[in-house]
Amino acid sequence: MGVALQFDNRDIISIKDFSRKEINYILEISKTMEPLAYEGSNTLRGKILATLFFEPSTRTRLSFEAAMQKLGGSTIGFAESEIASVKKGENLADTIRTVENYADVIVLRHPLEGAARLAAEFSKVPIINGGTGAEEHPTQALLDLYTIQKEKGRIDGLKIALVGDLRYGRTVRSLAFALSLYNVKLFLVSPETLRMRREVLNTICEKISVIEGEDLEEIVPQVDVLYATRIQKERFPDPAEYAKVKGVYKIDKNTISNAKEDLVILHPLPRLDEISAEIDATPQARYFQQAWNGIVVRMALLSLVLGCVV
Ligand code: CP
Repeated sequence: MGVALQFDNRDIISIKDFSRKEINYILEISKTMEPLAYEGSNTLRGKILATLFFEPSTRTRLSFEAAMQKLGGSTIGFAESEIASVKKGENLADTIRTVENYADVIVLRHPLEGAARLAAEFSKVPIINGGTGAEEHPTQALLDLYTIQKEKGRIDGLKIALVGDLRYGRTVRSLAFALSLYNVKLFLVSPETLRMRREVLNTICEKISVIEGEDLEEIVPQVDVLYATRIQKERFPDPAEYAKVKGVYKIDKNTISNAKEDLVILHPLPRLDEISAEIDATPQARYFQQAWNGIVVRMALLSLVLGCVV
């Protein structure tokens, strides 16, 4: 396993804050969590996780809460800000300075970019970014890497396509940064208006080979991993722009008819119609296993930041 790295009391705000060595260590610890996800453990007994979700979530919130409970800890929090005192006008800093008295670690989801970084500045307990605006979703990127490594046996040497809303999708943004630490060839497939933002491209193109395109069928036969994303309707400033790109990519059996036999199809979920239900029963569909991997990776992250990795 190698030398333990410094994670105790650490915030997880951006995937860019982590080196390849640190990410590999998180993936190793995640693997050790697999049996505990079935058997349960008491390593975090007495610890409390607060989940403060100012935006909807199914996977991130519930898998963090399940991860904490599987390790013997407990959870508090809210899943909609309407029922919290922010409704009365309380600001984020005061919310954090209050909740830090009740919890040992806080997972925050917020519509505003920079919210997790701001929260970390006010918090004495670790802040984990559970998704901020169109900015970042670092724990999703970690579980995506874990899934790729588990499914393909490696990350280096792979050809990976990120498909769909690369402009507003925070999962692909964090994943692109993370993949740029590995020896991969990245295909970015999107309509012109949803291309990956320049500041991301400028960073990742210095490190890895990146090819941008719009034609999914041309790219599918070349890749080992196809990572589809939802068009993020809620982040479009203009509904007319959303209408132009809605449903632009639909992955069905015909789409993957020329794919490599061992293609892996991933999606952070939720999906709308970008992956047809007929794909679900194919061996290539791994997105529900990906959601499961969210538990073990989040068990690892909670254990690491709480200094409880044995
Ligand atoms: N992948 C993801 O972040 O899903 P939720 O929005 O359901 O948490």
